[in-house]
Amino acid sequence: MKLQHIFSLLFGLSVVTTVYCNTEVDILNAQREAWKDPYNVLESWDPTLVNPCTWYHITCNSDNSVIRVDLGNASLSGYLIPDLGRLTDLQYLELYSNNISGSIPDSLGNLTKLVSLDLFSNHFNGPIPSSLGNINSLKYLRLNNNMLSGEIPREVLELIITGNLTEMNVSDNMLSGTIRNFKKRVTTITQDARA
Ligand SMILES: *[C@@H]1O[C@H](CO)[C@@H](O)[C@H](O)[C@H]1NC(C)=O
Ligand SMILES: *[C@@H]1O[C@H](CO)[C@@H](O)[C@H](O)[C@H]1NC(C)=O
Ligand SMILES: *[C@@H]1O[C@H](CO)[C@@H](O)[C@H](O)[C@H]1NC(C)=O
Ligand SMILES: *[C@@H]1O[C@H](CO)[C@@H](O)[C@H](O)[C@H]1NC(C)=O
Ligand SMILES: *[C@@H]1O[C@H](CO)[C@@H](O)[C@H](O)[C@H]1NC(C)=O
Repeated sequence: MKLQHIFSLLFGLSVVTTVYCNTEVDILNAQREAWKDPYNVLESWDPTLVNPCTWYHITCNSDNSVIRVDLGNASLSGYLIPDLGRLTDLQYLELYSNNISGSIPDSLGNLTKLVSLDLFSNHFNGPIPSSLGNINSLKYLRLNNNMLSGEIPREVLELIITGNLTEMNVSDNMLSGTIRNFKKRVTTITQDARA
């Protein structure tokens, strides 16, 4: 009976944690826990603060909402949590040159203020989410040097015509299909996929 009580208490707590995982501190702290950080670059990420604006590698706007995550070349491994898609004011997600693996979460397509998505030189696999085609603000999409597969979604290519995408590099992946018709429209567009 007592043991059951403890179980339901623990269960209750985990539900509460899930329900209140709403602040940007909670989201980033959960992301930190999903990463391995051998050089402790995330040491300043104090989860007891009300916002993450004083943390290293984080930049906020005047409303104390996160607009940049700058963690390129930080020796991070692990994966990206879907909740990152709830950092709704994010403009720059800079995670290039790490050892991050797993897929690119579909939820990143919810980041409708994103200007730059730099995930190049990691170990990402799986497809490029078509949801990224929702991000009309996206200017720089650099996914090169990963293990991404499948075709580049039409929704993403359409950002070159209808959106703001001016630089896309998807080279050095395992992608298929062609992007020939879009080449003239962008400053830089590279991929090594044939046919
Ligand atoms: C990456 O980080 C390492 C270790 O901090 C540093 O020595 C190296 O210069 C960095 N490389 C780039 C391209 O910034
Ligand atoms: C990635 O991990 C490998 C070992 O699995 C290590 O040798 C390499 O230095 C790591 N690279 C970075 C950028 O952390
Ligand atoms: C975020 O993205 C996911 C996957 O694309 C979607 O299912 C979800 O409804 C989105 N959430 C919000 C709040 O837009
Ligand atoms: C596209 O870029 C222009 C110029 O930088 C900007 O004014 C506009 O708001 C952008 N569009 C979106 C959807 O962010
Ligand atoms: C595109 O990515 C490839 C592979 O990572 C890299 O060698 C090349 O320099 C990149 N192109 C541009 C224009 O940045």
